[in-house]
Amino acid sequence: MKRALVLGSTGQDAGYLIELLLEKGYKVYATYRRGSTDGLFDRITHLDGKINLICADLTDLGSLEKAFKEVKPDEVYNLAAQSQVWVSFSQPTLTHEVNYLGVERVIHCVKTYCPNAKLYQASTSEMFGDVVETPQSETTPLNPVSPYSVAKVNAHNAITRERKEGMFACAGILFNHESPRRGIDFVTRKITDGVARLKLGLPQRETGKSYLELGNLNAKRDWGSAGDYVRAMWLMLQQDVAKDYVISTGETRTVKEFVEIAAEMAGIKITWKGSGIEEEGYDQNGKMIVKVNEKWFRPNEVRLLLGDSSLAKKELGWEPQTSFKDLVESMLVSDLGRLERCMNNGKN
Ligand code: GDD
Repeated sequence: MKRALVLGSTGQDAGYLIELLLEKGYKVYATYRRGSTDGLFDRITHLDGKINLICADLTDLGSLEKAFKEVKPDEVYNLAAQSQVWVSFSQPTLTHEVNYLGVERVIHCVKTYCPNAKLYQASTSEMFGDVVETPQSETTPLNPVSPYSVAKVNAHNAITRERKEGMFACAGILFNHESPRRGIDFVTRKITDGVARLKLGLPQRETGKSYLELGNLNAKRDWGSAGDYVRAMWLMLQQDVAKDYVISTGETRTVKEFVEIAAEMAGIKITWKGSGIEEEGYDQNGKMIVKVNEKWFRPNEVRLLLGDSSLAKKELGWEPQTSFKDLVESMLVSDLGRLERCMNNGKN
């Protein structure tokens, strides 16, 4: 039985990847970072008893070494990271420590405790930064503009370096990928949660306002489905030759389009007034339901992401299976259901 070690089990992707690995018959070990807040394991409670959880932190070499020594994995998936781009502007050192130096620690552990293991590193389309060409593929130059992407580029280069030295190490350059399990501060979940609240007549999360506040509505992203993307991670480690692959849908949309589509699915038709930081969205009854707030703008923005996954299609046989509309709908339906259950229990 193959042994997989998934680093970073409490994030969005790990639950989907672990489900796939269990289906494929792996013995799965997964690390988590100690935390004192409730709900740490919410995304993987359904996997209780099916996986072996180990407490380890990418910033703590001793805990990582212990995990690698114990598991001696055949495959390692590094999904652990400080994953929020906007947080990296206020916490650049922590982001570097986890997202770059953490990967060097993982590499050290692979070399020391399981030199024949295959290593997957979660790289990101954010590395293209101020993009120099569109669409972006494996050969597009990296041009990072945030502390997050600078750290991810360093980690990406470390993976390339190790591959040249003989390790089976590869990086998935994943474009944005979403799901009902997406963290609620990322823009897609913020929107589906916000639209569900508008539909149910509930105040917005955090602000308590009657309208949804957002930042840059004009940023364009290539949004895919997390469930589809973890399949690509696994496929990359089943190859004979280690290589990096861009994983994307090949479609791009603005944040504004995401809002419009989610709202339309909830029966709300938005009309926009003003522009830039003055922009506001109104529903069919003339009520303001969306407003831009500068607070959500970033010091540096990645304006346009659009991926070219031809190589993954050709060599991995990978294709996205979820349409954009199905993705948005699944997130909206999930948020509506959750909020309705909370209302029935007297909470929101
Ligand atoms: N979070 C957030 N909140 N983003 C907003 C908001 C808001 O209120 N309003 C507009 N945006 C814009 C951001 O400025 C950005 O252009 C876009 O929405 C997407 O933001 P996020 O959902 O936070 O994701 P991201 O693109 O910064 O990063 C995600 O994708 C990367 C892959 O390209 C994360 O998953 C990263 O970890 C991942 O590497």
